[in-house]
Amino acid sequence: MELTAYQQELLDGVWGKGKSMAMQILVGIGKCFDAPRLVPITRAHVSLSAQEADLWFSGKLLAAGASCAVPPTVNPGYSLDYFGGQISEAAVENMRQVDQTYRQLGARMTYSCTPYLGDNVPDCGEIVAFSETNATIFVNSVLGARTNRESAASALCAAVTGFTPEYGMLLEENRFATVAVEVQATLRSDFDYAVLGLMGKKIGKGVPAFLGLPREISTEALIALGTQLNVSGSFDLFHIPGVTAEVRDMQDAFGGRDPQRRVVITDEDLEKALETFSPSPSGPIEYCILGCPHYTLSQLEEVAELLAQKASQVPIYILTSSTVKARARECGLEQRLLDLGAQLIPDTCVDEACCWGYLAGRPGVTDSPKGAYYMETSGIQLAVRDRATCIRWAQNGSVC
Ligand code: F3S
Repeated sequence: MELTAYQQELLDGVWGKGKSMAMQILVGIGKCFDAPRLVPITRAHVSLSAQEADLWFSGKLLAAGASCAVPPTVNPGYSLDYFGGQISEAAVENMRQVDQTYRQLGARMTYSCTPYLGDNVPDCGEIVAFSETNATIFVNSVLGARTNRESAASALCAAVTGFTPEYGMLLEENRFATVAVEVQATLRSDFDYAVLGLMGKKIGKGVPAFLGLPREISTEALIALGTQLNVSGSFDLFHIPGVTAEVRDMQDAFGGRDPQRRVVITDEDLEKALETFSPSPSGPIEYCILGCPHYTLSQLEEVAELLAQKASQVPIYILTSSTVKARARECGLEQRLLDLGAQLIPDTCVDEACCWGYLAGRPGVTDSPKGAYYMETSGIQLAVRDRATCIRWAQNGSVC
């Protein structure tokens, strides 16, 4: 791999052991992918997880004197203001150390998995290093920025050095669509786009271009599609001609080439996908969990409207960013939700067993396949349905 004089100095330790460690990892990744060089990044997002390996790796870089050349935003861990009194002292201490370590490395402690909505928004064509599967696919597809699907570690190394290996999604030739996905199903809500995202196996490997979708698609629906594509498969990028940033039409999407594969998605496919992922439940439910990825203000407003006729009988936990929570507080929405049985929890991920483990074995419901997928690893079984159904069941305390 060809390095500039400055990059060679970083690797050789002229700028400190921490930067050298980060550089060694990036050069190693670059060699694995035959990257000819390292290119500068302008932004980074690190999928901090607040778990043991995360603290070990970030702590090792910090102890070696690393600091971020490009201050990254970070994913949620867990809010000590909310969970502090209910979790073990060890878990409290862990989160404090994670916070301190990343702060000292120079990260921006945004604790949100939707940085592209306000905290860290790349432009079309900008080269960045984003981890967090929902964020990577959103900035690549919807915004047209260029990032590989970084891990927390590789995104942090890119933030520390200011460089990333040039391969994969950074290269024009890899960004053309290869699979034409003709959507014959009717999509009405952002949840329908989430279920479309569950079709990853049928779509198969490659870059899908979704055809037959409306020209007006909400941001929330685009978030849901990208998020769930990475639950049912592994996708860096998708295109929707006339909607996503890089492609106006089929010609742009496929670069004048024929699709390698054509796939048709019908209403029946979507019904089957949901039923397979989450078979129809029955009986009582004890809670509802929303906000994976973190809810936007308009999703919070929708929950308040759905609850307006009747408060919830069971707790509704809604994960969101501190920024959105603050806005909801300012306009009275947070109090309205609280009065109706819904609590806003900032800075927190569903994938934190120390916070959510107490829900294991208790029936609940969510509108996020990704949330259900992760919580199952902690023994928490969630039925997955659209937001209106989740709220209706919460209002009745049972599936009805
Ligand atoms: Fe966000 Fe955690 Fe879900 S990072 S997308 S709440 S798994």
